[in-house]
Amino acid sequence: MVVENPLNSTVIAREDLHNELAIIKIRPDDGPVAPFKPGQFCTLGLPAPPNPDKPANPKRKGPKLIRRAYSIASSPKVSEYLEVFVVLVSEGKLTPNLWTVPVDGKLFMDPKIRGEFTLDAIPEGKDLVMASTGTGLAPFLSMLRTHRGENRWRRLVMIHGVRNAWDLGYREELEQIAAEDKSVFYIPVCSREPEDSDWAGPRGRVQAVLDEAVFKQHTGFTMNPQDAHLFLCGNPAMITAVQEQFEARGFVTSTKKQAGNIHFERYW
Ligand SMILES: Cc1cc2nc3c(=O)[nH]c(=O)nc-3n(C[C@H](O)[C@H](O)[C@H](O)COP(=O)(O)OP(=O)(O)OC[C@H]3O[C@@H](n4cnc5c(N)ncnc54)[C@H](O)[C@@H]3O)c2cc1C
Ligand SMILES: NC(=O)c1ccc[n+]([C@@H]2O[C@H](COP(=O)([O-])OP(=O)(O)OC[C@H]3O[C@@H](n4cnc5c(N)ncnc54)[C@H](OP(=O)(O)O)[C@@H]3O)[C@@H](O)[C@H]2O)c1
Repeated sequence: MVVENPLNSTVIAREDLHNELAIIKIRPDDGPVAPFKPGQFCTLGLPAPPNPDKPANPKRKGPKLIRRAYSIASSPKVSEYLEVFVVLVSEGKLTPNLWTVPVDGKLFMDPKIRGEFTLDAIPEGKDLVMASTGTGLAPFLSMLRTHRGENRWRRLVMIHGVRNAWDLGYREELEQIAAEDKSVFYIPVCSREPEDSDWAGPRGRVQAVLDEAVFKQHTGFTMNPQDAHLFLCGNPAMITAVQEQFEARGFVTSTKKQAGNIHFERYW
């Protein structure tokens, strides 16, 4: 029996922001990445560690893989590699193994890219407000990197909620884009910075910045359901809470059956 090698991709770069947070670039070994849309996700995998209590299935071709979804942070304009923004879940099944893969190390990357969390249904010229927690920033970064300078939006507000300032991946890139492009606002918010730390930005969760008055203070405008679309990504508890907050303000959650102006991607 010929055993296929499922480890079809190579880590070509890896930036560890700290022990539990990394930006990883992965290149498929057999050619460019498949075309994709900003907001979609890839599937990465590594062999499951052997389980002494469960003998391997002799019919299986190659090792069993643990696979997980990762939003793509890079733009489809880059076809050499996919970039992902990943947090280590120490009790998780995949990420502790992923953390041991060095540059030049191999892993599985499904050639098929999936996901409906895109800008496809959004008309040009709207106000886009993208609120994320933790690594949920990734799909929004791909959207921004791809459509920046194309008049895709009227205003784009990127609200990134993290525990501590050291979790603010891509902070420099986002600060620079916001400084250069008056249509882009970048508002990082930290929930667990000690009171006496040197963090000078907003504190609390993303909801604190989405509050109408605070939002206006930062951006100079008020989101209204006619002109604005709200995108949410990351922690599902945040998504539910913000969804409720905005439905009470007249926003409508988008579903397969009904177009709306709240769009979300839950990470678990
Ligand atoms: C569509 C989609 C896109 C995703 N994109 C990303 C991404 O870009 N980056 C990323 O790090 N993860 C992403 N995830 C989560 C990812 O698929 C894995 O679940 C995660 O990496 C943990 O894998 P694990 O096997 O180690 O632990 P799992 O057994 O899968 O997860 C264990 C627990 O860890 C927590 N958890 C999982 N993911 C996260 C997270 N990102 N932040 C905080 N807590 C988490 C949850 O409590 C979960 O129940 C995405 C998930 C989905 C469904
Ligand atoms: N980031 C770290 O420094 C750190 C340290 C140790 C372990 N970890 C592990 O890493 C994993 C991921 O951590 P993470 O920090 O990336 O993701 P996270 O736990 O989802 O936290 C990211 C941000 O989301 C906020 N949040 C949580 N629930 C919310 C809600 N209902 N509404 C709005 N915002 C909400 C958090 O605020 P709150 O702070 O108020 O919860 C935090 O600001 C965790 O499973 C953890 O085990 C992370």
